[in-house]
Amino acid sequence: MCGIVAYYGPDQAYDFLIKGLQRLEYRGYDSAGIALLNGDLRIYKNKGKVSELENVAQGQNLSGTRGIGHTRWATHGEPNTVNAHPHLSQSGDIALIHNGIIENYDTLKKVLIERGHEFKSDTDTEVLTHLIEEIKEQENVDLLEAVRLALNEVVGAYAIVILSKNDPNTLIAARKGSPLVVGISDREGEFYLASDATPIVEYTKTVTYLNDNEIVAIQDGKMTIKTIDNVSKSPFIQELEISLDALEKGGYEHFMLKEIFEQPKSIYDSMRGRFDPQNLTFAMRSLEEYASKIKNLDRIIIVACGTSWHAGLVGEYLIEEFGRIPVEVEYASEFRYRNPIITEDDLVIAISQSGETADTLAALELAKEKGATIYGICNVVGSSIPRLTHAGAYTHAGPEIGVASTKSFTAQVTVLTLLALGIADIRGKISRERLREMFAELDTIPQKVEELLQSCNEKCKEIAAAYVDAPNCLYLGRGYNFPVALEGALKLKEISYIHAEGYPAAEMKHGPIALIDEEMPVVVIATKRNYYEKVLSNIQEVKARKGKIIAIVTEGDEKVAEIADHYIEIPDTEDCLTPILATIPLQLLSYYIAVMRGCNVDQPRNLAKSVTVE
Ligand code: G6P
Repeated sequence: MCGIVAYYGPDQAYDFLIKGLQRLEYRGYDSAGIALLNGDLRIYKNKGKVSELENVAQGQNLSGTRGIGHTRWATHGEPNTVNAHPHLSQSGDIALIHNGIIENYDTLKKVLIERGHEFKSDTDTEVLTHLIEEIKEQENVDLLEAVRLALNEVVGAYAIVILSKNDPNTLIAARKGSPLVVGISDREGEFYLASDATPIVEYTKTVTYLNDNEIVAIQDGKMTIKTIDNVSKSPFIQELEISLDALEKGGYEHFMLKEIFEQPKSIYDSMRGRFDPQNLTFAMRSLEEYASKIKNLDRIIIVACGTSWHAGLVGEYLIEEFGRIPVEVEYASEFRYRNPIITEDDLVIAISQSGETADTLAALELAKEKGATIYGICNVVGSSIPRLTHAGAYTHAGPEIGVASTKSFTAQVTVLTLLALGIADIRGKISRERLREMFAELDTIPQKVEELLQSCNEKCKEIAAAYVDAPNCLYLGRGYNFPVALEGALKLKEISYIHAEGYPAAEMKHGPIALIDEEMPVVVIATKRNYYEKVLSNIQEVKARKGKIIAIVTEGDEKVAEIADHYIEIPDTEDCLTPILATIPLQLLSYYIAVMRGCNVDQPRNLAKSVTVE
C-alpha cells in the first residue's frame, strides 16, 4: 500500500506527480502530498484524496524540476494532514516519501529524541528522515552514503525517495520489500520513479525495476545503482508492454464496471496460445520445464490472500479432480507464521494479482528457503512475486484499477484450469477424450461470458434495487460453487459495506440458518451439473424460514426458478468451469448495490489494492 512517484528532469515536476498519484490512488487514499525542489523545498499535503491535494496546491508556487509525491494507506499514525507524506528532517532540508513499515522505528526514535530531535508526526517514516540527516551530519558523509548507512540500521520494508535542499541535483531512492520502478526517458537526464509502471507509461516505456536492498541515485543527470552493502549494480533495462488505454475508464462510470465487462477478453487473453485443441498439447513453458518434478509430486500448497485465495480454492478442486494430487490452500498470513511443514518435494503456488502482497511474498520466501519449488500466478508483469519464483504463468488480465478484484479472479481461475489440466496430462491422469472435451469447452468460455454479461446486466440492476438496504446477506454454494459463494460475499462486503458471509450450502444448518428470517437475502449458486438436488433442498430450507432467495441457475432451469424470489441464468458449462461464469452476476450485483448506496466502488473505504504491509 501507499503509492509513490518522483520526477527528476528538465521539466516542471508537478503535473507528472499529480497524474501519477491519481494512477496510484488504488494503493491508498488516506492522504496525499508532494514536495517540490527549486532552490527552496516546498511541501503541500492534505488528508484525503489527490483531488483534495490539488485544491490545496492551487495558487501556490508549484515550480520545481525535482519532485516527489505520495498517496497514503495509513499504518502508523491516523490518516490526517500531519501524518501525510512527504516528511521532513529536523532541519527541514531533507524530504522523504515511504511505502512500507519501519519496524524498529520506536527504538530509533527514542535515540534520536535523546539527541535532541523533535518529531511532528506519529509516523515511522519521519524517523527515517531524521535518521538520515543525523548520520549525514555525524559521519560527515554525502546524502547517498547517509541513506545507505541509515538503511543498514533499519528493520522493515520500504520503498523510499529522498530530496534534499542542499543537493538540488540529486534524487535518491531505495527499496526493500516494497516495489519501485525507474522510468528512463529518451531525453538525457530525465527520470520518472513510481511504485508501479502505470504513472510512467505515458512518458517512457523504458524502465528498470529496482531489486530488494538496492539504492538508486540520480546525480547530475546520471543514474547509478548500488546495494546497501555498497556493491555497484548494472540496471536491467526492459520495455513496458502496458498501453495507456488500459489505464483509462473507456466510457464506463467506474473502473470496476469496465473491468467486469472486459472479462471476455481477459479470460481469452489468459488462455490464448496456451493449448492446442487440435493436437491436444499445451504451450506453457513452466509445464515443460518442470514436467519431471510434476510427475513425482506428492503435494501442492497454494498460498494467497483475499480474492486470490478464493481462486486458490477453485484451484484445489481443479488440481485434485484432474491431477489427482493432494492440494492444501493456505492464507499466506497464517502459513508463514505457523512453522509449516515444507519439503523439497513440495510445489508451492502463489496466486496474486499485484504480485506484491507482503504476506504472500513472505510465505514464498519461506517456502523457497525450505527448498520447495515455487510457482507464481500473477497479473502484474515484473512485480516482486514473479521475480522470486522458479516458474509461473502470468494471468493476462491487463491492469486492474478497481480495488475490488474482478477480472483478475476469472483470469486466475482460467490459468489454474490450464495448470490442472497440464498437471493431469503430465501425470497421465486424463484421457485424450476428456482433454478434448475440456479444451473444446474452454474455447467457448469467452463467448459465454460475453453473452452472460449482456443477458444478466439489467436483471442484476433490478435485483440490486430490491436489496439496496439489506443489512446482511448470505451466499451459499457447494463444490466448485463454494469458493464462488465466498467471493460473492467478499465483493458485496468490500464495496457496499453490507455484512455478507459465504458458506458451503450444507454448512448452513450448522449456524447461519439461525440468521434466516424474511429480512435475509440468500444468494444461492444452484447450477445444474452437480449437487443440484442437494442445493435445491438447501433452498427449500431457506424458503421454509421465509428467507429471500436470489438464485444463480443454469439456463433453462425451471425447478429453482419456480421457488426462488429472483433468479439469474448462466450458460451451461462443465462443472469445473462454472466458477468463471457464476462469479460474473455476483460481481454485477455487488457493483449495482454499492452504486445505489452511493459508495465509492473503485476506492472502497479502508481498503487498498496492493497490500504491501503484513
Ligand atoms: C487486497 C485487495 C484484494 C486482493 C487481495 C490480495 O485485499 O483489495 O482485492 O484480492 O489484496 O491481493 P493480490 O494482489 O495478492 O491478489
